[in-house]
Amino acid sequence: MVLQALIEELGAEESNLIKTIEAALSSEELESLRVKAIGKKGSLTKVLRGMGKLSPDDRPKLGAAANQARDRVNNALEHAKKRLENAALEAELKIQLDLSEPSAGLSLGSSHPIMQVQEEILSVMDRLGFQRAEGPEIEHDFYNFEALNFPHNHPARDMQDTFFVDENVVLRTHTSPIQIRQMLAQGEPPMHISGYGRVYRHDQDATHSPMFHQIEGLWVDHGVHLGHLKGTITAFLETLFTPETGVRFRPSYFPFTEPSAEVDMSCVMCGGSGVAHDPAANNEHGKCKMCKGTGWIEILGAGMVDPNVFGAVNFPKDIRGFAFGIGVERVAMLKYGISDIRMFYENDHRFLSQF
Ligand code: DAH
Repeated sequence: MVLQALIEELGAEESNLIKTIEAALSSEELESLRVKAIGKKGSLTKVLRGMGKLSPDDRPKLGAAANQARDRVNNALEHAKKRLENAALEAELKIQLDLSEPSAGLSLGSSHPIMQVQEEILSVMDRLGFQRAEGPEIEHDFYNFEALNFPHNHPARDMQDTFFVDENVVLRTHTSPIQIRQMLAQGEPPMHISGYGRVYRHDQDATHSPMFHQIEGLWVDHGVHLGHLKGTITAFLETLFTPETGVRFRPSYFPFTEPSAEVDMSCVMCGGSGVAHDPAANNEHGKCKMCKGTGWIEILGAGMVDPNVFGAVNFPKDIRGFAFGIGVERVAMLKYGISDIRMFYENDHRFLSQF
């Protein structure tokens, strides 16, 4: 009879506990209920104190009943814990997921100003009939110098501030080796290529960077002469800048061309007059700062391909060609009035986002 009474007491206590647990509103409340129910001094434990009044046969029965009651209470506690966690999560989601909130917007990248100008130059050359070509930046001496008529140990190699990888390998100092690779790959004329890419020289100041970009024109065909060179380069510069651009050719020297020329164009700042409209663009003598009052600025190197270059690639003896090389950074600086080349490589968003 005593067993029956104790088991009933246990059952009443259990259902009481479970009801309170199911109604609990916070994890703190749950924790205190757990202590109250199954802690050392908990209400279920207390019922077991009546054990002493039981016969040895009945004791395990009460023990088993108490264990089962404790398991069910534990289950209820687990359940309640999950319920509270889910409720908390849902509340959080409700606050964060405001689908009506305007988005922060996507910030798109853009191509680098040097890439933009490179593309501009190449697209003018596309229209003139040149085909784009690339080559390796780490180059054999043969392509960078030897085949371009720079004899071994010739001081002309000093013109190019070369980075040597080893005795026979360099970081290419110009895009001219692309001429050699393309002529050897194709094996015969005609050739109409625009070689482009990065080049390297150990030279660093406001107008020189150890890495910069060049574009190379090569036009090889029977009967090509200096008139083609002048006409093509004039059309090229007039298209790249303005139709009013003045162009002049000065005799110069490159090992791979004969004759060679330095090409000047009328100054973009003063229009060739030597005195800029904007007084701030003139120096203390009232002369245009950009061209120092001469009205001209150097823009590219050019010439008729030297017969020794054709010899190095086994082209026919009577073949003719012209070539020219232009610096992309230089064009960009002239186009946008930038006086320090380093601005292109500092990755300053305030600068880059203007293009
Ligand atoms: N490779 C020359 C340089 O980097 C530029 C150049 C001059 C290229 C004359 C040419 C050329 O193709 O004909 O200084």
